[in-house]
Amino acid sequence: MSNRALKRRHIEGIEMALVDQGDGIPLVLVHGFPLDHSMWNAQIDPLSQSSRVIVPDLRGFGQSSASDEKVTMERFADDLAALLDDLGVTEPIVFCGLSMGGYVAFQFQRKYASRLRGLILADTRALCDTPEMAAGRLQMADRIIQEGPGPLIDMMMPNLFAEATVNERPEVVESLRRVMMENDRLAIAAAARGMAERPDVTPMLSTIDCPTLVIVGELDTISPVEEMRQIAESIPDARLIEIAASGHMSPTEKPAEFNAAVVRFLASL
Ligand code: MLT
Repeated sequence: MSNRALKRRHIEGIEMALVDQGDGIPLVLVHGFPLDHSMWNAQIDPLSQSSRVIVPDLRGFGQSSASDEKVTMERFADDLAALLDDLGVTEPIVFCGLSMGGYVAFQFQRKYASRLRGLILADTRALCDTPEMAAGRLQMADRIIQEGPGPLIDMMMPNLFAEATVNERPEVVESLRRVMMENDRLAIAAAARGMAERPDVTPMLSTIDCPTLVIVGELDTISPVEEMRQIAESIPDARLIEIAASGHMSPTEKPAEFNAAVVRFLASL
């Protein structure tokens, strides 16, 4: 968790907590699983120098209230559209999602394309889970309810970071682990069930009609470079940035490089 004072808005039957900072193009930063807005701590101050940075805790995560037994990626996208309405943001936004945040970005694009000025897809996947992966997620969801997030964290941690990050910046790893531990087990299980049934969005990539930046850590094993290159090649107006020496968590592992890529993209819009 961060120590930032968060705004709170009532939307879609929940209280949603968020950071809303700066002026300029609205830039919505959407966290991965099972995290909260604080995974963007290294982005919020620098990027709010030149844009209005809106950073929510998704339904059930961080300080946002929960939740249902299952939360689909579409549900998260609907929450964000309602949040923007509530904040009075009518101009098109740039939607930046990491991993699960990217799954939400695809659903937001599908339903609210006219609200998008640009899309940033960071370390994410267009493919759905294989049946085995989906079954594993559902089992894990049940386990999280029984035992808390520990087993999930043990499974995920080895895949999130480049080895150099683990060795040289252990505080980054620790702070993410803390957020995962503190998150509500029901919300984590609900999002896991939602991810298990997310659709394969590969067929819609060629219809994405806004400028798109695809960012991937070169050592990402969850959403590997080759898979993200295919996403970038399938979207008509997309460019790919590969971040050297980073794993899956590129915004936290290599914030200077990540932020520079985002600032360049925003300036090009
Ligand atoms: C994430 O970082 O959000 C997760 O790795 C997404 C997933 O489990 O598919």
